[in-house]
Amino acid sequence: MIDAISFSDGKFRYLDQRYLPLQELHVETRDHQEAIEAIKTLAVRGAPLIGASAAYTVILGINEFKGTKEEFPAWFAKLIADVEASRPTAVNLFFATKKIKSVYEANFTQDTLEELFAKMTAEACKIHKDEIDNCDRISRNGVELLKRDFADVLKTRKLNVLTHCNTGTLACCGTGTALGVIRLAWQEGLIERVISSESRPLLQGLRLTAWELEHDGIPFVSISDSSSAFIMHQGKIDFAVVGADRITANGDTANKIGTYAHAVSARHHGIPFYIAAPVSTIDITLSDGSLIPIEERSADELRTIFGTQVATPTTPVLNYAFDVTPGTLIRGIITEKEAVVGNYNESLARICNE
Ligand code: MRU
Repeated sequence: MIDAISFSDGKFRYLDQRYLPLQELHVETRDHQEAIEAIKTLAVRGAPLIGASAAYTVILGINEFKGTKEEFPAWFAKLIADVEASRPTAVNLFFATKKIKSVYEANFTQDTLEELFAKMTAEACKIHKDEIDNCDRISRNGVELLKRDFADVLKTRKLNVLTHCNTGTLACCGTGTALGVIRLAWQEGLIERVISSESRPLLQGLRLTAWELEHDGIPFVSISDSSSAFIMHQGKIDFAVVGADRITANGDTANKIGTYAHAVSARHHGIPFYIAAPVSTIDITLSDGSLIPIEERSADELRTIFGTQVATPTTPVLNYAFDVTPGTLIRGIITEKEAVVGNYNESLARICNE
């Protein structure tokens, strides 16, 4: 499996995803500012991987601390604020900082700084390991749901699946969320072909998902984002499964820009649309998707294509990194605990409180 991130000997190592698939550039750093920059620039990306990377970034920061125990709380508060300011939408980042803050709050008074830092480091490693394990459970729950939903179709043929952005090892630490479901479904003989949409403007689908699928030998075809409705109309897609950056209490789901358009098209064509994500992606504190902070990225991401200017430098641009798909368009939300179908207010509250 690809090692997208790791942490040892006080060093955070990551595969710089901006250069994939043309170059496999592994970077290591002890500098928390460099790690924050890696999150901001999408050198590391994908909601669960952002969460684990944020946890390790906090550990880099505390390892840089040179002051007294009395000076630590102020330093720590600034460090957490800086990490939390890196990317706003994926709630996994805030899930991770909250977990590390809880360890700090529970142990600061009685521990030496050395003891405290050891506990916080163990918590960061646990966040990372949990996300790896979650992928396997999500994949299993997803495949069970597909076997139920497509029992009749699967008696005569395999399925064609649409996915968007990258939700594999590069995004999730383990085998993936949506891509984990696809991987396992393919291993079990359920999948004919994957249709992977490019995910403009940063091309996570075309560059990263295609790279992972090719590596595994899974049959796939890459498409432009705008062609999914036409391909659905041709009957070449049986279902869609994508990941999530934040799911609210009612099932509304923020994911890579373009997801909503795929979901609307899927509903029009009667195609089931699934979300696969760990419980760390559910933000039960928000009642609906209108409350999710949506990241807007720089105009130059659209005006240039990998460094080449394709529009005038003054072209006005609206560059949302994510959109929100209403829960009403989602057939099922597949988590590591269970796959829930409909009535999300009740089911998501239950699995978050278990
Ligand atoms: O901007 P990115 O590349 O971090 O966006 C990633 C996505 O939108 C993924 O679909 C999402 O994080 C789910 S990853 C399992």
